[in-house]
Amino acid sequence: MKTRRSLRIAIIGAGSVGNTLGRLSLENGGKVVCVVSRTERSAHAAGRFLRCRTVSTDLHAIPRTADVLLIATPHSAVEEVARALAQIEEYDYSGVAVCHTSGMLTAEALDPLARRGGTVFSFHPLQTFPRDFPPRAIVPTAKGITYGVDGSSAGLRAARRLARVLQGRVLEIPVERRALYHATCVVASNHLTALISVVESLHKLLGTKEEDFYRVFKPIVMATLRNIERTSAARALSGPVARGGVETVARHFEAVARYAPDMIPYFVQMSKETVRLAEAKGSISAAQREAMAALLHAYENPTTQVPQ
Ligand SMILES: NC(=O)c1ccc[n+]([C@@H]2O[C@H](COP(=O)([O-])OP(=O)(O)OC[C@H]3O[C@@H](n4cnc5c(N)ncnc54)[C@H](OP(=O)(O)O)[C@@H]3O)[C@@H](O)[C@H]2O)c1
Repeated sequence: MKTRRSLRIAIIGAGSVGNTLGRLSLENGGKVVCVVSRTERSAHAAGRFLRCRTVSTDLHAIPRTADVLLIATPHSAVEEVARALAQIEEYDYSGVAVCHTSGMLTAEALDPLARRGGTVFSFHPLQTFPRDFPPRAIVPTAKGITYGVDGSSAGLRAARRLARVLQGRVLEIPVERRALYHATCVVASNHLTALISVVESLHKLLGTKEEDFYRVFKPIVMATLRNIERTSAARALSGPVARGGVETVARHFEAVARYAPDMIPYFVQMSKETVRLAEAKGSISAAQREAMAALLHAYENPTTQVPQ
């Protein structure tokens, strides 16, 4: 990466991630020198947000002065963009850092640019950038985050520098485990969202007058996260599984089978994970673990009789 006092970044793909990271660099003394997107509309909107006059739908608009080209297109377009950039013959990529923000792709997706002398790396922001939220609302949540990266040693150096500018840090991901890394991110955000929506669905079945499920459950959700942060998942675990309360768990299964039978597979799987955690915590005996396993097995295999 060329060394300058303030980093000059070209954003390719003016969606949630491009706008947010562009804005973050701006707020930290960087400069967005160009925005290229698929449509004029998103390119111009990003130009206004990122205080950048050079906006285009054409990659040829990228100025030679850019230190970093940040490709934040959907991951299906990253390789096509990399090939198109590599075909711009008059562009000298030596000393230019080029990265993409896909969680699934590695730096290999940028090979055509590495062959043209570019310093390439993957640079996946480990944060959620929901499309229904304006970038302005997402920016504060992108401060201090981790970026999942891979690349050559020069690529990794460039990644670290870019992360510093964005007030973040990098996590090197072995290329063969990239999909596993991305699956882990999916559990942390998308599965967490799905889990909270299970709470919402069950709350609707409680027969109370309260309509705002989040108001009711937010304190317990937030306290749980805070407890995990302070200690660990195992130490933060409370409740009937952690106490080895097989009878209580059996009553829960009866209630779920009656009021929300579709949730049984979810309940079985999450109870298995909770039993594993209780074992790690050392809070259940071998006999309690066996009894819990028999109960879960019965609900997993409906032809088996539920143990009494
Ligand atoms: N969303 C997340 O939570 C999240 C988190 C981490 C990483 N990522 C990754 O970051 C990347 C961007 O995600 P996003 O959520 O910001 O997507 P997005 O909101 O859909 O934005 C993608 C942008 O790329 C533009 N685009 C599409 N094809 C293009 C092309 N061929 N050339 C130039 N621009 C093009 C689109 O332009 P138009 O608006 O003009 O159509 C759109 O503005 C993806 O690889 C995604 O996997 C996403």
